[in-house]
Amino acid sequence: MLCLRATLCRRASQRLLVHRRLARDFTIAIDGPAASGKSSTARAVALELGFGYIDSGSIYRCATLLALRNNIADVSTGATDLIDLINKSSVNIKFQPSSTRSAPNLITGRLSVPDVRILLNEEDVSEEIRKPEVNRLVAKVASDGGVRTAVLGIQRALAGAAETRSTSVAGKDGVVSVPGGVVMDGRDIGTTIFPNAELKIYLDASAMARAIRRWDEMNSSLKQARAADPALAAGDKAPAEYPSVEDIARELEERDYADINREHSPLRIAKDAVVIDNTAMTFEQQVYSIADLARDRMGLERKHDDL
Ligand code: CDP
Ligand code: CDP
Repeated sequence: MLCLRATLCRRASQRLLVHRRLARDFTIAIDGPAASGKSSTARAVALELGFGYIDSGSIYRCATLLALRNNIADVSTGATDLIDLINKSSVNIKFQPSSTRSAPNLITGRLSVPDVRILLNEEDVSEEIRKPEVNRLVAKVASDGGVRTAVLGIQRALAGAAETRSTSVAGKDGVVSVPGGVVMDGRDIGTTIFPNAELKIYLDASAMARAIRRWDEMNSSLKQARAADPALAAGDKAPAEYPSVEDIARELEERDYADINREHSPLRIAKDAVVIDNTAMTFEQQVYSIADLARDRMGLERKHDDL
């Protein structure tokens, strides 16, 4: 009798433990060098799992835009002013799972990537923060320890707000608790921001594959802009303004070098990260394999074993 009661108690506490584990919020950290696919992958994984999404790089890009707009060209001397500006500013990341755009790259296959809008002090700066002048300065801005501390507060607050909550759904084995969570991508998410993240991914690809993907993205945005605007289509903007694959490769290489070699939170592979080199992978393969890795760790059924 005592033995039966003990067994029942153990089963009940095991059920409780499983429930607690499932109900706990789940964080996925995706780090890697520039243009390795972090942001598109993170958005598609968040959509697949019903999680929230935070693009941490966009916060550093907003800080860089603040520096440019306030003529702080030298971050080493202007850091105090810049930190003050960051502390007085609001950054919002609007993840829009229902508004998906087809990823511009053909090799992404049929998967769609949800749209994200970045608001700096309520102004939509999503396009402006991707401009070449921001690309050139952002790694320098992000290398300052004080700037990183100011950005850290914004990052954690945004992640808390974006995180989705666990839900109960009816499955074939009864009601199952499906965890909520958040996906965040950047350079130091798995090492510094969320060192206890339940799943850490380090995405990588060859330097040339990354440069070609960025070039492809720029070209398809240019084509879309030309289709929408007859003045552009007539050739008002010389294609020479657009960087070549070699220019892009050089810019990515310089930024990676700065991100890997800086003193504060450099780009590193977290020791418990799963490293995925996607040079020869399709976008679909990488998204579905990360989503299934997350499902494994949440104790849920895998969905894409056919890949
Ligand atoms: O999209 P891409 O990989 O080109 O860059 P991003 O993710 O928008 O990040 C822009 C820059 O912000 C990086 O090159 C880093 O210098 C910095 N960054 C960082 O230091 N830490 C992060 N967690 C995210 C970005
Ligand atoms: O955020 P990060 O700078 O690391 O990369 P991204 O902005 O997501 O851009 C990567 C580009 O490569 C996107 O256009 C993706 O659709 C594309 N791509 C990929 O991420 N993975 C593949 N296996 C193939 C293409």
